[in-house]
Amino acid sequence: MPRERSAAFAPGRVNLIGEHTDYNEGLALPFAIGEGVTVRAEASTRSDGEQRIEAYASDLGERDEFPLQDPPPEAGWRAFVRGTVAELGRAGFPLIGARVEFGGDVPQGAGLSSSAALEVALVLALLDLGGEPAWASPLERIPRIELARLCSRVESDWVGAQTGLLDQLASLYGTSDTALCIDFKSLRVDPVPLRLGRWRLVVLDSGERHSLASSGYNQRREECARACELLGVPSLRDADADAAQRLPEPLRRRVAHVIGENRRVLDAVAALRAGDLAAVGELLNASHASLRDDYEISTAAVEAAVSQLLEAGAAGARLVGGGFGGSVLGLFAPGSEPPAAAREVRPGPGARMLDA
Ligand code: GLA
Repeated sequence: MPRERSAAFAPGRVNLIGEHTDYNEGLALPFAIGEGVTVRAEASTRSDGEQRIEAYASDLGERDEFPLQDPPPEAGWRAFVRGTVAELGRAGFPLIGARVEFGGDVPQGAGLSSSAALEVALVLALLDLGGEPAWASPLERIPRIELARLCSRVESDWVGAQTGLLDQLASLYGTSDTALCIDFKSLRVDPVPLRLGRWRLVVLDSGERHSLASSGYNQRREECARACELLGVPSLRDADADAAQRLPEPLRRRVAHVIGENRRVLDAVAALRAGDLAAVGELLNASHASLRDDYEISTAAVEAAVSQLLEAGAAGARLVGGGFGGSVLGLFAPGSEPPAAAREVRPGPGARMLDA
């Protein structure tokens, strides 16, 4: 009997360091968090034989219904669900009509990748549904990089955000007590122990929602592409620091951020391996200064949240994710107390199938 029900969970992520480097073939050091999205799917057959998807966003109390083949585009959360179904179909995966329900605890628009969590959980649940019981789970039979790329096409072609692979890879590869050093040129993912001991990592919401599709995110991507053209390199990973100094503004500063941020990722990996969390805190501060001054993706609300963490005694604080709002990450040494509104985040396991 083909599988009639399936369920999957995918976590959101926090990027410890390495921001706006993924689409520049650079380095990043994210980890999956405990919070995420759960998708439950159940096969459904209609009396007229048409294959459709009925989706229910339980947190919002909202529904959507659309044909399995060539769903028309939509806005908001529906864009993610329709896009995921459409991209699975385009990639040649067999799908069946289904009722799909999803919900979770990653705050939306807070820079913690609620969208990647939804895409990844949806992909896993839909790939499992209708499969033969003997089939291995989608996580075992399909390369994770392929799943991540499919989700990223949902963002670019259905949602309108030209994102890289950071969020999806973090969600797919997450491991407890581990950060993932991702090289976006080789697509190598190296686990790095993230043992916090009595130190704490927290996120504080700036209160400003961000949307990658409507923020300056795509503009930053264009600026990096233009800098590559002028430097004659395929990606900023190959940019020469001296040549980049001669670029016109603001491209010079954009490239300076990317080159510096790649170096900070390597420094953070070394600091974590040495158990030097104070050095990680300094790198977070340096990353934030670069994102604010050179990449120019901070806002007044984000600055206020960073100041709040630093004033509370954080060893380091910086904006996380695409910027232009969202959350701020803070690292607190034992004995210092994060503000009450901040929530602690810990590196947890990645996406997984659940009992349906
Ligand atoms: C968002 C995108 C990622 C990445 C970050 C910035 O989270 O989805 O691909 O570019 O911004 O590091």
